[in-house]
Amino acid sequence: MALLDIRVLGDPILREETVPVAEVTDELRALIDRMYDTMYAAQGIGLAAPQVGRRECLTVIDVEGAKHALINPEIVETSGKAKGEEGCLSIPDIYGDVERATRVVVRATGRDGKPFELEAADLLARCILHEVDHLHGRLFIDYLSVLKRRSALAKWTKEKEKYPGLIRRLTPAEVAAHHHRNEEL
Ligand code: NI
Repeated sequence: MALLDIRVLGDPILREETVPVAEVTDELRALIDRMYDTMYAAQGIGLAAPQVGRRECLTVIDVEGAKHALINPEIVETSGKAKGEEGCLSIPDIYGDVERATRVVVRATGRDGKPFELEAADLLARCILHEVDHLHGRLFIDYLSVLKRRSALAKWTKEKEKYPGLIRRLTPAEVAAHHHRNEEL
């Protein structure tokens, strides 16, 4: 399993717009598979290409068994509103409440190169919106109130010292510990 390094808050790529994928190639499929491996190792439910230093408009998600690679995703419908706690693999140990739509319809291209439409609710909808935000340089902390954002960023100033070069590299020990925990659950 070849894991990818995760870029953390402060790396400019997290703030950049991605580039639409023109064609689903074997190379892109290999990237998708490595992104899944990295996401599972980090115990995430979603991971977007900029988080691993890539500019492709691509994200992978797995929310309670709903596993999807979304290439060039486009939110075509939203409804409802609810607050829920979010975290991000690129901002470890920082959490905050974000108001999002409770139902979305997303149109994307899949790993097989075929277009599809997905209707999602609740956590899956939240995850899709969070990941699509990543593809446009937006992060969940952008939605926090001024006060809460300030306190999150103050905490991050200390946290980010754990990530030299703004890179989060999953160590084999960390991955093994996660797998062990998963087995316990
Ligand atoms: Ni995130």
